Amino acid sequence: MIRAAEAVKHWDASGLSVLEVSHRSAEFELVVKETEKLVRELLNVPDSYSVLFLQGGASMQFAMVPMNFLRKGQKAAYLDAGYFGQKAIKEAGISGEVIVVASSKEDEYKYIPREYIIPADADYFHITSNNTIEGTEIFRFPKSPVPLVCDMSSDIFSRIIDITDFDLIYAGAQKNMGPAGMTLVIARNNFLDDIKNKVHAILDYRVYRDNGSMYNTPPVFAIYAAMLNLQWLKSKGGVKFIQMENLAKAQLLYDEIDNNPLFYGLAERQDRSLMNVTFRMHDPTAEAGFLEFASKQGMVGIRGYRTVGGFRASLYNALPYESVQALVNCMKDYARINHADLIQTY
Ligand SMILES: Cc1ncc(COP(=O)(O)O)c(C=O)c1O
Repeated sequence: MIRAAEAVKHWDASGLSVLEVSHRSAEFELVVKETEKLVRELLNVPDSYSVLFLQGGASMQFAMVPMNFLRKGQKAAYLDAGYFGQKAIKEAGISGEVIVVASSKEDEYKYIPREYIIPADADYFHITSNNTIEGTEIFRFPKSPVPLVCDMSSDIFSRIIDITDFDLIYAGAQKNMGPAGMTLVIARNNFLDDIKNKVHAILDYRVYRDNGSMYNTPPVFAIYAAMLNLQWLKSKGGVKFIQMENLAKAQLLYDEIDNNPLFYGLAERQDRSLMNVTFRMHDPTAEAGFLEFASKQGMVGIRGYRTVGGFRASLYNALPYESVQALVNCMKDYARINHADLIQTY
């Protein structure tokens, strides 16, 4: 953050700010190359895949995926396991037929559906690896008979994955990569080669590939900040290290949720997200009081999403273990102060 802020004032030897530099300059081309190199290194991306930097957020990918891959008269398969998956389904429906292979909507998206058949004649199968709002995460990826497309916006770089399980991965930068404005796409080259649809250049994956992500002006600052962040991740020991830290953070908080008599977790245990921990109080009328208590102790951003309610603690890579400990202490203190009666058993 400090280095990114400094680069806004004074970036290179000429005294330019990173906000002023031409995206065609040799210096910035080096930034793009270095960022791509870090993505490849940290996620072990094979040469048979392209690494692309786009704009428009993950939401633009909800549209770009069907525009490129869902052929006229064909169908695409989707798993409906949360709010963002549902948005992706809605967008795909504009391009063609969508088969929803399974949904946990009726159960408030508390789990990831497991029993389903992926139609072998679908153009692709789309999943969301981490459901940011509901707090569920896929830990075993499906073996798909058709190309697998994954929205990894909220858990990319948080854990080791095998890129070859997927044909296309996309992720908005703003969780584990850097500031909003850049969208990462990792795509198998022969999946891109197979695109049959004619799409506008700005929405065509192959145009980004053929132009080194510089068909138009890329989000210069967002890419630069992502590079710094990925350098930080590498210096910490890479994804392997951060995965251990993320596990420890999530374990600490889920243990408190399970042991503290005032709280309960929203997601089913086997699907609990390591990135977004959703929980509520057994007495919902006490939730406003806990939020106030927590905010007085410096906890910000733990209010649950409006469709879910309660609380959501996002434990992205940059959040230190100590911050999770502080939230856990806050939950303990609240229970001790307000519910001494329950505490004997706790
Ligand atoms: C899993 C997931 N998909 C999609 C989105 C939408 O991303 P964006 O706002 O970058 O379009 C988000 C945003 O939080 C997300 O968490």
